[in-house]
Amino acid sequence: MADRVLVIGAGGREHAIVRALNRSPRAPEVLCAPGNAGIAADARVLDVAVDDVPGLVAAAQAEGVALTVVGPEVPLVAGVVDAFAAAGLRCFGPVAAAARLEGSKAFSKELMDAAGVSTAAHAVVTTVADGLAAIDRYPVVIKADGLAAGKGVIIAASEEEAREALTAFLVDHLHDTEQVVVEEHLVGEEVSLLALCDGEQALPMAPAQDYKRIFDGDEGPNTGGMGSYSPVPGFGAERALELAAQVHQPIVDELARRGTPFHGVLYAGLMLTADGVRVLEYNVRFGDPETQAVLPRLRSDLLDLLSRATEPGGLAGVEMAWAEETAVTLVLASAGYPEAPRTGDPISGLDAAAATGVEVTHAGTARDASGAIVTAGGRVLNVTALGADAASARDSAYAAADLIDFDGRQLRRDIALRAVAPTRSPA
Ligand code: AMP
Ligand code: GLY
Repeated sequence: MADRVLVIGAGGREHAIVRALNRSPRAPEVLCAPGNAGIAADARVLDVAVDDVPGLVAAAQAEGVALTVVGPEVPLVAGVVDAFAAAGLRCFGPVAAAARLEGSKAFSKELMDAAGVSTAAHAVVTTVADGLAAIDRYPVVIKADGLAAGKGVIIAASEEEAREALTAFLVDHLHDTEQVVVEEHLVGEEVSLLALCDGEQALPMAPAQDYKRIFDGDEGPNTGGMGSYSPVPGFGAERALELAAQVHQPIVDELARRGTPFHGVLYAGLMLTADGVRVLEYNVRFGDPETQAVLPRLRSDLLDLLSRATEPGGLAGVEMAWAEETAVTLVLASAGYPEAPRTGDPISGLDAAAATGVEVTHAGTARDASGAIVTAGGRVLNVTALGADAASARDSAYAAADLIDFDGRQLRRDIALRAVAPTRSPA
């Protein structure tokens, strides 16, 4: 019988994971909880929320699932992998004690210091006065300690802005935080390097770059991500291996030493500064929208890789194969995103876009009472195109994205332009 695999999540990342699992030669039956209107075409969806840990365990047991793959950070930090293990179920992702790497920025900094990983100079504070005292120049970066869905990082240009951010986090307890990390503001280009980890070894995936601001030219507020591309000029396989040895392997080693080995995806958000590479943050899961650009280039069997990563040392001797082509992912976002996304707008042109050969993945869509597909979140759809180079991948991606329409659609026009005309000298 074919393996039955369950993906937990409801976004574009999870749709890309479902698609990649469907390409496995092991021909698994893929389930997704809770999924969305697009995922429902590629997987059997189960009506269980991502944060309903007992419900997810029960669903996996009832369905006889052989492997569960966790997309978002919330269930990981809540201990979904621990709960699956306690029930004798195999689940791809870190246990809660290792997921703290994303769940607490203070813990993450402490681990980086213990592991000898280069990061921004920082202080952990619990009062506004201590926070202000820790600042010696502006701009400065102020980070809420816990999970904040991308909204917990403020770059303060002045003492007034710093006081405001510290007050919001420590006095008004926005994001439920008791501690704040105050850190040096770094300047440079960002690269996302994800590595598959089996508790002992970190195996880097293809590097990607993510566009975080809502408007062209990196203007406007931060979002969950408005586009991505892979590979990144100047970051070949050798460079990725070097970086993984500097920023992923020491963390994997340190967590193993502490008795909480890291299994799953370790995502390093890197900044290439004039003084070398610094880690901005770790995430304990696949990136969104990086995954939508990275997985379509993977030529190895994702199901096999993820299964191996759940075993101690299971990735030993494994090499991942990647297509030479460039993948460009565009995000189509709803009216009002990121502040106040509007939902319920009917979407047209999905079939026409897919017919051009691009991969259309759904991030926030639903079916209305009449069965039509409508917007149901901030990030609505992703369009990913592969091309011989970044210019041709961009052309295909934009041509297809422009066939898709909904009221108030937002789409950045400059995704992957830097890969067309790289200005950076390789770090
Ligand atoms: P984080 O959630 O820590 O990755 O922060 C989100 C975004 O804030 C990063 O992707 C960067 O664009 C920016 N950022 C975080 N830390 C720093 C820093 N120390 N210096 C400059 N920008 C930063
Ligand atoms: N693309 C950023 C993230 O997944 O956190």
